[in-house]
Amino acid sequence: MKKKKIMAVVGTRPDAVKMCPLINELRTREDISVSVCATGQHRELLSDVLDVFSVTPDYDLKIMRAGQDLFDITSGVMLGLRDIFARERPDAVLVHGDTTSAFAAALAAFYEKIPVCHVEAGLRTYDLTSPYPEEFNRRAIALMASHHFAPTETARQNLIFEGEADASVSVTGNTVVDALRDTVREEYEHPLLSWTKDSRLILLTAHRRENQGEAMRNIFLAVRRILDEYADVKVIYPVHPSPAVTEAAKEVLGDHPRVRLSAPLGVGDFHNFLSRSYLVLTDSGGVQEEAASMGKPTLVIRNTTERQEGILSGGMRLIGTGEGSVYRGVRTLLDNRALYYAMSRAKSPFGDGGASERISDIMEKII
Ligand code: UD1
Ligand code: UDP
Repeated sequence: MKKKKIMAVVGTRPDAVKMCPLINELRTREDISVSVCATGQHRELLSDVLDVFSVTPDYDLKIMRAGQDLFDITSGVMLGLRDIFARERPDAVLVHGDTTSAFAAALAAFYEKIPVCHVEAGLRTYDLTSPYPEEFNRRAIALMASHHFAPTETARQNLIFEGEADASVSVTGNTVVDALRDTVREEYEHPLLSWTKDSRLILLTAHRRENQGEAMRNIFLAVRRILDEYADVKVIYPVHPSPAVTEAAKEVLGDHPRVRLSAPLGVGDFHNFLSRSYLVLTDSGGVQEEAASMGKPTLVIRNTTERQEGILSGGMRLIGTGEGSVYRGVRTLLDNRALYYAMSRAKSPFGDGGASERISDIMEKII
């Protein structure tokens, strides 16, 4: 029997973390051959994740350049994929989530009339300005996709509400939970973690485009105020390499003795840090899901989230981006032990670790 050809496209750290478990599962299926195209929207951040999951790309578009903007990414991916799609003619293209690499890859496949299958489909804020431009990317991919892998029932309902056919949407759980099975270890040590011994560790990540500038400065000022008032709190912040983020982080937090600004952590390290943190302060999408899976109370420094299930389950709170609201949000959680324990006991709505298997089973049937 001739194998069906699937091409998975990954471009950034988060889509690699969530696609690699699926790529590795698809590779175990006898009737499928999988090739991987890295767009290279991210360079170091992407290659770290691919290494951890032993995924070697068959193609690398290497589009990243310093100070890249959305035009550079969209056009670089589209032009790079044109020839590859024409040559390879895969039976289906797999894209993940909401990055501009995923959007541009879906558009390129759509232009070549290759079916697009969308992993982590159906997350919505219904606010095109937040997250920006990710809300647009996700909705645009849905228009082009022939199959939607929704991580939760809420995501499925969003897609049905938008008019997608029932049969084209499957609820699978989020593949990020599958990734955690490979990375979190009971025996794990790191010098930075030893530094936080006997303290309450806040693991901070902040990078969103819509937060860059004033909002990000305000978030950092709030963190500084917390540190000044709580001697038993330490913060580790692996800083995203975007210059807009690194400059603000250094300026506001760089000299505080109870903050460590580090380079981005390898995904294995990051997951182990997460599992040993006291609470998580983040504007990331994937980190919300990971923290919920580990029962870590999470404060989301954004005005909206497309992961409302986490709020409804009780493990996450949305605390905005103003200095006062971030400060109050963190303080409340540090002071209120009952709230803290209630949040840590919330059941994660994001999946059970079997998403890659379910998606692979469905892919075998539909292509
Ligand atoms: C992108 C995604 C965002 C995702 C984030 C994950 C879009 C529009 N945004 O945003 O949804 O949350 O990735 O991290 O697709 N850089 C490096 N080295 C790297 C990676 C990035 O130096 O390994 C620099 C780039 O050169 C660029 C900046 O960081 O100047 C921002 O990268 P970019 O991919 O444009 O956007 P992100 O903010 O990372
Ligand atoms: N992550 C990582 N190292 C870090 C910070 C985050 O490996 O220093 C991982 C994290 O475990 C999660 C992913 O990066 O899987 C989230 O990516 P990011 O926050 O950059 O993007 P988003 O999920 O918001 O799109």
